Amino acid sequence: MAQLTAAPVGKRLDADRREGRRKIDWARQHMPILDALRERFETEQPLAGERIGMAMHVEAKTAALVELLAAGGAEVAITGCNPLSTHDDVSLALDAVDGVTSYAARGVDDEAYYDAMEAVLEHEPTITVDDGGDLVFSIHEDYPELLDGIVGGTEETTTGVHRLRAMADDDALEYPVIAVNDTPMKRLFDNVHGTGESALSSIAMTTNLSWAGKTVVVAGFGYCGKGVARKAAGQNAHVVVAEVDPRRALEAHMEGYEVQPMAEAAREGDVFITTTGNRDIIVEEHFELMQDGTILANAGHFNVEIDIDALSDMAAEVDDPREGIRAYELSDGRRLNVLASGRLVNLASPVSMGHPVEVMDQSFGIQAVCIRDLVTEGGYATDVHDVPDDLDREVAEVKLDAEGIAIDDLTDEQREYMDSWQHGT
Ligand SMILES: NC(=O)c1ccc[n+]([C@@H]2O[C@H](COP(=O)([O-])OP(=O)(O)OC[C@H]3O[C@@H](n4cnc5c(N)ncnc54)[C@H](O)[C@@H]3O)[C@@H](O)[C@H]2O)c1
Repeated sequence: MAQLTAAPVGKRLDADRREGRRKIDWARQHMPILDALRERFETEQPLAGERIGMAMHVEAKTAALVELLAAGGAEVAITGCNPLSTHDDVSLALDAVDGVTSYAARGVDDEAYYDAMEAVLEHEPTITVDDGGDLVFSIHEDYPELLDGIVGGTEETTTGVHRLRAMADDDALEYPVIAVNDTPMKRLFDNVHGTGESALSSIAMTTNLSWAGKTVVVAGFGYCGKGVARKAAGQNAHVVVAEVDPRRALEAHMEGYEVQPMAEAAREGDVFITTTGNRDIIVEEHFELMQDGTILANAGHFNVEIDIDALSDMAAEVDDPREGIRAYELSDGRRLNVLASGRLVNLASPVSMGHPVEVMDQSFGIQAVCIRDLVTEGGYATDVHDVPDDLDREVAEVKLDAEGIAIDDLTDEQREYMDSWQHGT
């Protein structure tokens, strides 16, 4: 008899859950910071009695953070922060963990996406953990009755921090939030190396094309753009940078990249990667100029950087030549290929796995100590706060320790010299 490949739904779910568990376990084996913090959290139970609501990319590394928070005594409810970045097997495995409820599912429409967000809020969180700010905004706009019970929140990414600072400037923010994104242990590694490595590897795996000899146009030379440009140059691509900030444009020039306005770069690029956190970076006038076969990908938080609606309107035909690639054929026969529907390519492409594990160990180490601090230290005023420097250092020290790297200590004389204004020639 032929081998049956179909399995009952329940069995399939079990198999998916086991696969999700394997992914989480693999990530955990490479996350020494979270491992060290887990030991402390398990003993000290700093989050006992807290309910944590999370909207993040639900994949294996995030799951390791969720498990750490649950081990610290919290009840955690989580959903995705992007409809295409959830790994369903990881979501299933997480939901099976004591104290954790996961509502995240991949590929849901807008209604189901916001239903899941609502379901998280029904747990009446005392702490919110966001990547892009959706939970904070939903609470302020639709669930103001929850505000009184909230101790504080954390925000993972640049775009979320921008939105929160705008809220604070308008006096619209009603509880303290720590800007995890802005601290050195996050931004200098996650945004630069994480986005650089994972955006390039996701594009390469989605297209199966080489970087060597290609002209890669990077829009935005901020933290993410620097990482993308550096890694693309490292793969022997010719890199062109498009910027609006004169200092960052100059920085790109001094680092050896060609700098051009998008309207010029549009003619030359083989691959375009947007990393601005802004909207309308690649629009109709640019599509008009692009070469046949151009690849378009976004690594900024929202899917507003490449104007897909305009491209759709311009297209005579649309088809999907490979999973994760939509080709728009224009009336003159040129085909422009958009990856991952213009959403974060390193998380939303079907083959993408997000940032490397080690990078997220650092980012989520910062998340964990900030969440702990909101509860145990208290006293944060309603505002957007930088990560306290001692917490950033704590995570850096744990990481150095795990890597077996020793560094020098300042002597008392050096400390006194650095702090003094009297020493001179
Ligand atoms: N893909 C990921 O995994 C990942 C990781 C971290 C951050 N992000 C997101 O990436 C985006 C960028 O983050 P960042 O930390 O690099 O921010 P950043 O502020 O350091 O850099 C953004 C850069 O884009 C430039 N810019 C703005 N408008 C532009 C325009 N019209 N044309 C050209 N350049 C323009 C800015 O001048 C700035 O230099 C944000 O949306 C952030 O949330 C994504």
